[in-house]
Amino acid sequence: MAAGGYLNRLAILLSGEHPTLPFSEVCAVMRAEGIAYRVFAKHDQLLLIDAGGGATEALRERSAYAMEGGRLLAQSQASIEEFRRACKEMDWGLIKGRTFGAKAKRVRRHCEHIDTQELQSIVGEEATREGDAKVDLMAPEVWIRSVITDAGIFTYAIDFASDRHSFSSRKPKTRPYFHPGVLEPKIARAFVNLCGVRRGDTFVDPFCGTGGFLIEAATMGIYAFGMDVDRRMVIGAGKNLKHYNLDADIVLGDAMALPVSKADGIASDPPYGRGTTTLGQDVREVISGFMESAFDALKAGGRVCTASPTELRPAELATSAGFRVVEEHSMRVHKSLTRLIIVVEK
Ligand SMILES: C[S@@+](CC[C@H](N)C(=O)[O-])C[C@H]1O[C@@H](n2cnc3c(N)ncnc32)[C@H](O)[C@@H]1O
Repeated sequence: MAAGGYLNRLAILLSGEHPTLPFSEVCAVMRAEGIAYRVFAKHDQLLLIDAGGGATEALRERSAYAMEGGRLLAQSQASIEEFRRACKEMDWGLIKGRTFGAKAKRVRRHCEHIDTQELQSIVGEEATREGDAKVDLMAPEVWIRSVITDAGIFTYAIDFASDRHSFSSRKPKTRPYFHPGVLEPKIARAFVNLCGVRRGDTFVDPFCGTGGFLIEAATMGIYAFGMDVDRRMVIGAGKNLKHYNLDADIVLGDAMALPVSKADGIASDPPYGRGTTTLGQDVREVISGFMESAFDALKAGGRVCTASPTELRPAELATSAGFRVVEEHSMRVHKSLTRLIIVVEK
């Protein structure tokens, strides 16, 4: 293993669904799994990291927003000549004598003077000549991806690709119990990842609603404990977990008085004081009470990932409860609602 515990330089293609969450989620997964990593470069939807063993497996199993990735093979400026030169200099050892396929993709509209088909052909020619490999576009042993982004062209061997189907199979409307205002599985998964829990840990969602966050945690083998003040939600969330053959403990109760201690992480989408019930309480007081209770419920170093409308200034409430703010992400929902997602640490 290389100095510092890093094995590989990886290129990770990130979803363009949000400008900052996908990057943070990758780092959170590395941290949660105890994998040494160092961010080498951040480009538009492409992250380069040096990472220790197990990084691609962890991202495949856990990440919502890492679309695919693998060992970085080459990088060049956005010109066909430079790309060809980089391919010639590439270490083709990985595909020597194997079958391969080449794919190319452009992030947004970067460098439109470069044709993705031409990149594929160049990789094809060089891999066949230099790597003594054979093209197989149906079921190759190795897929090689070239990505055109803001900083040039990056080529990697695809080591993992996320399973998009598994998220769509858990869409809220396909569950036995549905209530409007539920976050989609991918964002729920990102919240769980951002609070830093791993398999065997205790995860808590104090405003569990229909159980979307509990489903994501339990799917990753994390013990999930949920709470809600609304009995219908407690029963409905239980049905939803059962529907996926998952286990969680779900109780009726107030997030401002969590019956838990030494939890490893908390993630939640509390009421915003608009659609969902707060039992008549002021929403700022609910969030403030939740933060104080969450502080007591967590082990030292444990994290909370939560969201509130920007005007509630959730980071201030978290700081007053004793937390340190790790990061904030702004997400526009519609004209009159921008949610602020915060990650805070005890
Ligand atoms: C936005 S929803 C959560 C949606 C949830 N993430 C899901 O997957 O369905 C907020 C939930 O907080 C619950 N709630 C409101 N005040 C609460 C409190 N003080 N303690 C616990 N739950 C509360 C509401 O009943 C509602 O189900």
